[in-house]
Amino acid sequence: MQDPELPTLWTSVRRPGDKAELYSELAGELDALLAGERNRVANAANSAAAIYHSLGALNWAGFYFLDGRELVLGPFQGRPACVRIPLGKGVCGTAAAERRSVLVADVDAFPGHIACDTESRSELVVPLLTSNELLGVLDLDSPLLARFDEADQAGCERLAAVLARHLA
Ligand code: SME
Repeated sequence: MQDPELPTLWTSVRRPGDKAELYSELAGELDALLAGERNRVANAANSAAAIYHSLGALNWAGFYFLDGRELVLGPFQGRPACVRIPLGKGVCGTAAAERRSVLVADVDAFPGHIACDTESRSELVVPLLTSNELLGVLDLDSPLLARFDEADQAGCERLAAVLARHLA
């Protein structure tokens, strides 16, 4: 059994069929992983790695943070990505401007989608909101069409609530 004093081994995260259970478990693990640290870069970097290695079928997982009227690239896992996205542009800028999750089953069918990695076929972007401000967005890309469904959206919104507390 793993020593409870050691950090979580992310390769050991279970992948149950039930997405609600998977996201609930991941939300608890992120909360524990980030507890006690206030550095945004460190917390976002560990969160991107934990999410990327826990969810499966992703080619990109990471953050864009609000900086004035645009989003600026934060820590991520995946190929290098575009650095600045104006509010209202692309999937990320739409989620940020409208402060709501945007689920895209087929990125080619989303007008204005910004193609950072040509492998991406579907995408889910969830805003990071505190009680009074937008911090940025969590962005997940997949090489599979329709990788994300409503259960992923609800699960990622649950993750975003935990993340916003640790990234504020
Ligand atoms: N596809 C995003 C851009 C960010 S990358 O996917 C990492 C968008 O349309 O906003």
